[in-house]
Amino acid sequence: LKVLLTGSQGYLGTVLAQRLLADGHQVVGLDSGLFADCILGEPPVDPPTLRMDIRDVAAADLHGFDAVAHLAAISNDPLGFLSPQTTYQVNHLASVRLARVAKAAGVRRFLYASTCSVYGAASRQDVLDEDARLAPVTPYAVSKVRVEADLHDLADPNFSPVYLRNATAFGFSPRLRGDIVLNDLVASAVLTGVIMVRSDGTPWRPLVHVRDIAEVFSRVLVAPPAEVHDEAFNVGAAVNNLQVADIAEVVRQVVPGSRVAIVGEPSPDERSYRVNFDKLQTRLPGLPPSWTAEQGAAELYDAYRRYGLADFGRRFVRLTRLLELQAAGQVDSQMRATRAEFPVLPNSSAAANSLQAREIPEQGG
Ligand SMILES: NC(=O)c1ccc[n+]([C@@H]2O[C@H](COP(=O)([O-])OP(=O)(O)OC[C@H]3O[C@@H](n4cnc5c(N)ncnc54)[C@H](O)[C@@H]3O)[C@@H](O)[C@H]2O)c1
Repeated sequence: LKVLLTGSQGYLGTVLAQRLLADGHQVVGLDSGLFADCILGEPPVDPPTLRMDIRDVAAADLHGFDAVAHLAAISNDPLGFLSPQTTYQVNHLASVRLARVAKAAGVRRFLYASTCSVYGAASRQDVLDEDARLAPVTPYAVSKVRVEADLHDLADPNFSPVYLRNATAFGFSPRLRGDIVLNDLVASAVLTGVIMVRSDGTPWRPLVHVRDIAEVFSRVLVAPPAEVHDEAFNVGAAVNNLQVADIAEVVRQVVPGSRVAIVGEPSPDERSYRVNFDKLQTRLPGLPPSWTAEQGAAELYDAYRRYGLADFGRRFVRLTRLLELQAAGQVDSQMRATRAEFPVLPNSSAAANSLQAREIPEQGG
């Protein structure tokens, strides 16, 4: 298939691009490049990539594609709070516009990277399946709920949107994110010896490995329409339905000499949700066993030691990165790259090993 992959230079997109290419698809990326140079280890080889903002996509850009995998977004809660209006413009309005343009161009399948954050502050007893009430608590999550609803209105026999509600991702990607809970806690353990849990550790935060997400997108792309058309899927596995304190304990067992500190600060992040992942297993039988949090923590520990964590906060914490790009005039207040080339900031050796700018350590995506 000929697939347009938006957000192809992000954390998930970089891994998904490689997976879709390995599957034999013809992949074209689309990304404004906000984090293109935030790389850990060997630089990835990207597919041919349209360097553009999704707000500027035109009909001609979608010509000839069979499918779109839409990942580009202002993609976590602290970024979403930076400018809720811009978050709605990019995540909601531009996503729906992209889908309309794609449908008009004859694209038949539209995989949408949604999130389990749509369940928001759920009852701690419930295990939520795809029919559960959506209760988003942040502009980021609200934007995702709105897109799902508007894509549903576009669904018809020739256009199949699929809503992939990913759990919080973890694991190695050449374009790492340091602001998601497991990746963050392993880095914290390596750099400081302390696994700092800011909440009281009780929120449920289901996890999923980046390569398991890529596996699901790869399967859904070619699944029979009857299995996926206009359907939502929770993407993750029961084994990774964990509370934040459990995640911290996993990290402690992997990083020698580290210890857990549960601080119990009040947090604006009220999310807590346990999620039922059965539908995915039923509709896509034969998925390989999921990566566990332990395996992911070990993988990250190896990668962090091999490649080093200098400048961790500046390179891999999205909020810090964007604020720096804005201060340098490379990205404007609407989160548009202001120059034709990718925004690039030099790495600073003075800020080596800095974790200071990290905001909310228990982030989901
Ligand atoms: N990482 C997670 O834990 C997680 C969990 C659930 C859902 N998701 C969703 O998956 C998708 C990918 O997440 P990620 O972790 O790879 O995020 P990311 O921030 O690493 O990547 C997002 C990419 O989108 C690009 N982008 C942002 N605004 C753009 C614009 N206006 N035009 C063009 N490109 C733009 C950025 O440059 C970046 O490369 C997002 O939609 C996110 O909401 C992520």
